[in-house]
Amino acid sequence: MSILVTGGAGYIGSHTVVELLNRNEDIVIVDNFVNSKPAVLEKIKKITGKDFKFYEIDVLNEEALNKVFQENNIEAVIHFAGLKAVGESVEKPIEYYHNNITGTLILLKLMKKYNCKKIVFSSSATVYGNPERVPLTEDCKTGGTTNPYGTTKLFIEQILKDVYVADNEFSISLLRYFNPIGAHESGLIGEDPNDIPNNLMPYITGVASGKFEILSVFGNDYPTKDGTGVRDYIHVVDLAKGHLKALDKIRKETGVQIYNLGTGNGYSVLDLVKTFEKVNNVEVKYKIVGRRAGDIAECYADPSKAKKELGWACEKGIEEMCKDSWNFIISNKGESKD
Ligand code: NAD
Ligand code: WQD
Repeated sequence: MSILVTGGAGYIGSHTVVELLNRNEDIVIVDNFVNSKPAVLEKIKKITGKDFKFYEIDVLNEEALNKVFQENNIEAVIHFAGLKAVGESVEKPIEYYHNNITGTLILLKLMKKYNCKKIVFSSSATVYGNPERVPLTEDCKTGGTTNPYGTTKLFIEQILKDVYVADNEFSISLLRYFNPIGAHESGLIGEDPNDIPNNLMPYITGVASGKFEILSVFGNDYPTKDGTGVRDYIHVVDLAKGHLKALDKIRKETGVQIYNLGTGNGYSVLDLVKTFEKVNNVEVKYKIVGRRAGDIAECYADPSKAKKELGWACEKGIEEMCKDSWNFIISNKGESKD
């Protein structure tokens, strides 16, 4: 039996696929490369020495996705496929709702058809909106999302909960990621967006490599230790490993389980910049500018539920995250972006 990984060529998906293959899981990847490149697949093979099935299809294409279920005995799905750029989602709400929500509905319809009732879903700390308290526990209130991207995650969580109410044989794991950064230690896979990045770490690496001149730090007047925004940065390999633990859990029991995947530590923008400079011995020029619309002061996890119930905890600290993010960039310097 196989695990279907949608969006498996993407940043978090590719790291999770590596961990799955390292554990000898049989996998099938589906991706349409809307935000990734075919070369990633070869890199995954190089890292693991293992092969896997791949289909270049859009999850919105029901006929093509049906074929994947027909041709493979899918035991469970890890569903990463989705559009994730917050700013773009404000400009293109229809595309975001359609891709993320309709894509999930088509997937769920086919899962039911083929009696596949186990799914791990990529949710986000964004579902907490403006956190009612930090550290965030899974029972904190959700809602109040400030952009269509975040709202797709909130709605899909609700859809999955409703699917379970209607059919108690489903096992559903909703993983609320905090801020993934870092890259695989090989330097072969990581995150390097083609466009101007929305997120902090790709912008820091962009300034360090000379692609951008200067980092704009969005506000230094938040009620935090140095006035800049505080987040829970998590190494993408730790995050990937969390998916294997979630998979183990849904293989054993039905229900809807929700887990925060974060380290439990909050670091400010300046903490990240300074640590990056120190461990990599490079300069990251920055200037303080006004706050970014929709930003919150502080967001970090209480990850104790995942530790207790999944036996999962982060192993990599902020220095390793900064080193691995930079190692990925310098290892791939000069590589074609196509
Ligand atoms: P990513 O863009 O690198 O990966 C997503 C992958 O899905 C890409 O390879 C893309 O080509 C593919 N895809 C998108 N729409 C598709 C479709 N309709 N059909 C087939 N493939 C499609 O993003 P990521 O950072 O790896 O994120 C993975 C998931 O985790 C996403 O659902 C994202 O919303 C969620 N998430 C990400 C973060 C983060 O900060 N990176 C935080 C919380 C949640
Ligand atoms: C982190 C901190 C910024 C860029 C977003 C999504 C969220 C989730 C993760 C998917 C903040 C500051 C940033 C820059 C800066 N994704 N910053 N200059 O905002 O926590 O979350 O990504 O689910 O949904 O909203 O992450 O990396 O954008 O910002 O000062 O150029 O860095 O203000 O304090 P964020 P981020």
